[in-house]
Amino acid sequence: MLYVLTKNITEKVQSINDFAISTLQSIDAIKTYGYVKAVTGPLIKCSGIERCVTMGEICEIEVKTSHKTVLGEVIALDQNEVTLLPFEGGDGIKIGDIVSISSIGNVVFPDISMLGRVIDAFVKPIDDKGPIHPGNKKYHLKHAGQAFDLRKKIGPKLNLGIKGIDVFAPCCIGQRLGIFSGSGIGKSSLIAMLTKHANCDVKVVGLIGERKREVVEFIDSYLQPEKKDFVVVACTSNEPASLKKRAAYLTLSIAEYFRDLGNNVLCIVDSLTRFAMAQREIGLMAEELPVSKGYPPSVFNEIPLLLERIGPGSEDNNSSITGLFTVLVEGDDYNEPISDAARATLDGHIVLSRNIAERGRFPAIDVLKSLSRATPACNSDWENSVVLEAREILATYQELEDVIRLGMYKQGNDKKVDRAIKLQPLIENFLHQSSKEVFSMQESYSMLAKILGYEDHK
Ligand SMILES: Nc1ncnc2c1ncn2[C@@H]1O[C@H](COP(=O)(O)OP(=O)(O)OP(=O)(O)O)[C@@H](O)[C@H]1O
Ligand SMILES: [Mg+2]
Repeated sequence: MLYVLTKNITEKVQSINDFAISTLQSIDAIKTYGYVKAVTGPLIKCSGIERCVTMGEICEIEVKTSHKTVLGEVIALDQNEVTLLPFEGGDGIKIGDIVSISSIGNVVFPDISMLGRVIDAFVKPIDDKGPIHPGNKKYHLKHAGQAFDLRKKIGPKLNLGIKGIDVFAPCCIGQRLGIFSGSGIGKSSLIAMLTKHANCDVKVVGLIGERKREVVEFIDSYLQPEKKDFVVVACTSNEPASLKKRAAYLTLSIAEYFRDLGNNVLCIVDSLTRFAMAQREIGLMAEELPVSKGYPPSVFNEIPLLLERIGPGSEDNNSSITGLFTVLVEGDDYNEPISDAARATLDGHIVLSRNIAERGRFPAIDVLKSLSRATPACNSDWENSVVLEAREILATYQELEDVIRLGMYKQGNDKKVDRAIKLQPLIENFLHQSSKEVFSMQESYSMLAKILGYEDHK
């Protein structure tokens, strides 16, 4: 009896306490302060703000020794302390340094002036072209995306300008495709070609966890500053995991802003795997248990959360976001957990193969392993028959490749094989495309149809 009474009183006091704190918090002039209690490796443990913050919120630490402010994300919370993961090195942080909730928050105010610019995860320009002015409307970095029932169906085919993709794994407006391969096979180079050639209103590119050299190369060689139809969000491999995640979410939020202005947006993220690895690092630091190859469960929640924001716009709006995501297939194992999770959420995959790249054919698209879930519905009957026949020829050749190369096949034995031997090199040649070349969808189909001896496009 006495215990129940005490428990009730404690709960009452607790709820009055919580109410008082939230009321005080809602008054702008009042800020709650806490202090650093411990620094364990990259993590900062704080007290005093645990009842005022939420998971993922941004806090600032006033570092007395260096007189600077370090921002950090809340990655774990309990009754007595908050665990922060700083967005930069925590050098100089001491026990007792003051901590408070930052006004930066997990929001962005995108603006049309972002077009043609390269920015970091906090929208700071990194291209020496002057400041970027915030817009009027607030976009949350992390949210569940448009309600499913508000979305239109995916639209017609989008001309990406790459023959191998446009013909064999076409991408429709509002669709999301993955570009899968092991390391160093040409994912980033293909993404760069797509950024340059794809036919859409605005391209928003998130370079997440890539090498600094690659980012510079991408900006110098593939962006056309005079066109001003792109925004690049860059967060290189040396930056902390929390920044990489923020940069990926920022890429999506900026894409949503341009979609809401009525544009067909192409949103490109290179790479989804680095985003997943960043979440793995954060999850493990927050003491989540690893469930699959070291990846904690939160990784498999975050991937669909990011990908589901891509899609056609609502019925009353003629705009959309089409998504292209690169996936690094670790150890060339296509069943590793991130490839598996990505394939399950994406609407198609383009596979780049090491054998093909070693032969020097770029982009190294493995046609027989790639597919778009928009086909065959998005193609005309004529287009479907051209593609089907080309696939059959490649499959026949692949099946007998060793026999043919060893000279064990005798010409004339099988008409189908004879035709495959004759046409396979021509189709291979068709699939080769230098970074400077660009083709319309119609040109691509006509070229393939000519190889197969079809009449031109119908
Ligand atoms: N279109 C191309 N023409 C010629 N060479 C190419 C082409 N695309 C890629 N390569 C070669 O492949 C190399 C690796 O390309 P890239 O960096 O795009 O691969 P990646 O799959 O993104 O690698 P990582 O997994 O390390 O990010 C390039 O340095 C280049 O030598
Ligand atoms: Mg790459």
